[in-house]
Amino acid sequence: MEKLPIAVLISGRGSNMVALHKAIQKREAHAEIKCVVSSSENALGLVYAREQGIPTTWIEKEILHSADLFAKALLEMFSKYRIQLVVLAGFLRKIPDRVVAAYSNKIINIHPALLPAFGGKGMYGRRVHSAVLEYGCKVSGATVHLVSSDYDTGPPILQECVPVFEYDTPETLAARILPIEHKLLPKAVELFAGNKIEIIDRFVRIKQ
Ligand code: GRF
Repeated sequence: MEKLPIAVLISGRGSNMVALHKAIQKREAHAEIKCVVSSSENALGLVYAREQGIPTTWIEKEILHSADLFAKALLEMFSKYRIQLVVLAGFLRKIPDRVVAAYSNKIINIHPALLPAFGGKGMYGRRVHSAVLEYGCKVSGATVHLVSSDYDTGPPILQECVPVFEYDTPETLAARILPIEHKLLPKAVELFAGNKIEIIDRFVRIKQ
């Protein structure tokens, strides 16, 4: 199987990027991380990517704040590396519409809850888990979904549940969900690499 050229976009710790890279090394996902793009110069994940010899770049604030410039920077990067799948792994910026249109159904995101609940603008990290606990949910989980022009609204590709317990804190719940994220993201990339994804209206069908 040919290796799918992918770009990974991060904003912080990058544990999903690391999990994906390790899965690729174990040949569980037939892909190659051609570049890691960060929305912050100080994202911890950049350290790992550099150590692994993966080309990295970070996007300056002025560029991030202009949809036009941001789109141009991303499209140039993706074209340079002939990217076929864009993986948002804890990337906190909205992808400009122009990029979503150019890479229609070729951008995926990992979210630490069961969408469409507990998603949307500003719903990331600890806030998601706090909201799940405040609501009194009995289950939460992780979602890998296609990226559309709004936050967390694209069709789900993979979802998996975990139980929520009475004694949970945002931290214990996050710790239960993170390993699920680390499993689902490489699995989704492998589905794209194997051309197993078919989109029927909003339903993502996984071909056998
Ligand atoms: C993850 O929980 C992911 O679901 C969300 O942001 C977090 C990023 O964590 N989108 P990491 O940077 O991959 O460790």
